[in-house]
Amino acid sequence: MRYLLAPLAEYTDAAFRRMCHEGGADLTYTEMVSAAALFHGSSPTRHLMETMPGEGPVACQIFGAEEEEVAFAAREASALRDGDRRRFCEINLNAGCPMPRIIRSGCGAKLVTDPGRVYRLLKAMVGATDLPVTLKTRLGPRIGDNTVFELLDAAERAGASGIIVHARYTSQMHGGPLGYDVLANVVSRAKIPVTGNGSIRTADDVRLMSETGVKSVMIGRGAFADPAIFARLKAEGRGEPPPPAPWERGPLATHLEYLLAFRRQLAERYPGDHVMSEDAIASVKMHTHFIHYFKGVPGAAALRARLNAVRTLAEVRAIVASCAK
Ligand SMILES: Cc1cc2nc3c(=O)[nH]c(=O)nc-3n(C[C@H](O)[C@H](O)[C@H](O)COP(=O)(O)O)c2cc1C
Repeated sequence: MRYLLAPLAEYTDAAFRRMCHEGGADLTYTEMVSAAALFHGSSPTRHLMETMPGEGPVACQIFGAEEEEVAFAAREASALRDGDRRRFCEINLNAGCPMPRIIRSGCGAKLVTDPGRVYRLLKAMVGATDLPVTLKTRLGPRIGDNTVFELLDAAERAGASGIIVHARYTSQMHGGPLGYDVLANVVSRAKIPVTGNGSIRTADDVRLMSETGVKSVMIGRGAFADPAIFARLKAEGRGEPPPPAPWERGPLATHLEYLLAFRRQLAERYPGDHVMSEDAIASVKMHTHFIHYFKGVPGAAALRARLNAVRTLAEVRAIVASCAK
């Protein structure tokens, strides 16, 4: 079984991907990158396509609705290099994001109901890169409406190398029961590898997903504050005890240092762009990301109030140091 880190907007930046790679992920995905923004020359969009030293294999996820734009984005992503290495090993098309803003622009889960467009977008991407192109999608727009079979057919005809299926419908957003039976049907029909995704947190969840026949699973929210989940589930799957976490200083302190190193890298590479200050990035990530590390600790309510008031790197460091004690 292969274990993949899901693309998660606002979360799967280079620092977190590096944590997850060190925590056993076989492949990680960037946050979704707007093909239209890239096409129209937005430099900050390129920040999402930066990787940092120490990351393992990374795939770049693109969202878009126009062939010319997704082809451009695929070409750009596959041309990126770090030294003599290709930066990305795969380009992925997002056909599953249910956010209203994304759907209104014809992207993400809007594509769940438009296999014809998915075919054209993937074909344009496959024609624009020599890297493998994959599709990430859902079972269909609403429970029982299984457009995933047409999406699979579109992906195969367009020359895609794989399909990742979040085993839920768009109407379910990110919760509710998983459609294992439909996923198993997808696997049995597919000529390309199928990856299963949806609410994996335990070895039992992996077992249920693997009974559909998938050979890889993708984990999203289960990795929040738990980037070693990949190595732990791998070990459990082999009937072994969990391996020790690889971070001497603990995951949170390490995560913060990777984040600051990545911020420095962005500021050096993009001197003309606005890059958040250390204070801003530490406090923003404290709210979106680091806060997960404190779930369930004693005195959580008081701690949350303190976390909400954080505005500087020094305050973030003090909280991280106090929680390491
Ligand atoms: C905060 C958040 C951000 C997400 N961002 C993306 C994204 O950028 N691209 C994408 O394809 N899916 C995105 N997703 C969906 C996840 O990749 C994944 O399919 C979903 O969370 C189900 O997996 P999980 O239950 O393991 O989290 C996002 C989900 C969440 C909760």
